[in-house]
Amino acid sequence: MSRAPEKMEKLVSLCKRRGIIFQSSEIYGGLSSCWDYGPLGIEMKRNLKEAWWQKVVRERKDIVGLDASIFMHSKVWEASGHVESFSDPMVDCRACRRRFRADDVEGDRCPICGGELTDTRQFNLMFKTFMGPVEEDSAVVYLRPETAQGIFVNFVNVQQSMRMKLPFGIAQIGKAFRNEITPGNFIFRTREFEQMEIEYFVVPGTDEEWHRRWIEERLQWYIDLGLREDRLRLRPHGENELAHYAKSCVDIEYLFPFGWAELEGIANRTDYDLRRHSEYSGRRLDYYEESSKRIVPYVIEPSGGVDRALLAFLVDAYDEEEVRGEVRVVLRLHPKLAPITVGVFPLVRRDGMPEKALEIEEILRPHFNVFYDEKDSIGRRYRRMDEVGTPYGVTVDSQTMQDDTVTVRDRDSMEQERVHIRELVEYIRDQISSWRRPEHITEEVWV
Ligand code: GAP
Repeated sequence: MSRAPEKMEKLVSLCKRRGIIFQSSEIYGGLSSCWDYGPLGIEMKRNLKEAWWQKVVRERKDIVGLDASIFMHSKVWEASGHVESFSDPMVDCRACRRRFRADDVEGDRCPICGGELTDTRQFNLMFKTFMGPVEEDSAVVYLRPETAQGIFVNFVNVQQSMRMKLPFGIAQIGKAFRNEITPGNFIFRTREFEQMEIEYFVVPGTDEEWHRRWIEERLQWYIDLGLREDRLRLRPHGENELAHYAKSCVDIEYLFPFGWAELEGIANRTDYDLRRHSEYSGRRLDYYEESSKRIVPYVIEPSGGVDRALLAFLVDAYDEEEVRGEVRVVLRLHPKLAPITVGVFPLVRRDGMPEKALEIEEILRPHFNVFYDEKDSIGRRYRRMDEVGTPYGVTVDSQTMQDDTVTVRDRDSMEQERVHIRELVEYIRDQISSWRRPEHITEEVWV
């Protein structure tokens, strides 16, 4: 029997209990598909975005960053094709008035009450609002459904101000909004979410090679941050599922408890966007080569969701194992993603140990996200840290009071090593950079 729903329930409840993710507006009964990241969730989310930015911007010479406005001129969305084509097929039930994506329903009867369904019609997914005090057509603005367009309309600004030469990329992390007909699966499909997107501009003709390179590069990023390879796969889009701008697209999919689903799409958008914006704005959006030829670059776009990636890392890290007759819940997160990096504990609340542990906390705090805890037995404190994925636990014991050494407990193996306080920062840094997902972890069948 499938344990998938049970797994998701456990994860959702752990996220709430331990300050990772809360339902939005919970005291008012919640707002469907909207979620708030709590104190530990936001730490993890920041770590995730930082790991992406580090990899695709800071470690490369050919990519620079951007943070464009969420509201854009409404012409942007006409030029991009979103006003005309960014829609899903929808049907309504005439009896219970529920709405469904047409491709989620088989036959012409409501899957809930058996009522008759309307004909299929297209439902545009963009949120519309008005800018300024007057609600008229000329004041319509959209909440961006992808961050990408902020990059395309700034192509010339970035290329010229930074004197970028092809091939080069522009990267951006930011919120996007889609009025999804059927959001769900926790933070997997929501109406407000965050994207991490790169638009990588290349000489036409080299696009297919760059597409291949980006697919490999992006897949490796997830593996390097700890996702199990056998829960990842690549899936090329079929002809009839390609977005209106794409020549080809390959999805990186992850095996969630609810089945294989998209983490990130890597599309070949050709010169579609730059040409359309050039046409609609009347401005040249091309690139002047030294050979004095003007070209409109092609674009390879690796586009991932922050929230979806976070869900995949949580799901993948979640583990339960039996330790001395008790179930230990542990998030085996990569130390770079873990919300807390080091827990600091006095073994007991006497003999100067709390004071010493607080001193150590201060030594570590400038370098890592640290959490001090002196409440309950040491075993319970370790369990609390395991549950939120804290990879290292530093304990001050009676020996510390004599020789300034502490024990460092490894979350995955639960083994402890004695380390001198003066070497602690370096030791933890080394552990983080050499971390590998342990092989002995419990293998589970999700679906
Ligand atoms: N600019 C291209 C683009 O937006 P997409 O495949 O529609 O392509 C890219 O979206 C990524 O954004 C997806 O792979 C997914 O990770 C994330 N995403 C899209 N819709 C989402 C939603 N409703 N909720 C959460 N994440 C979403």
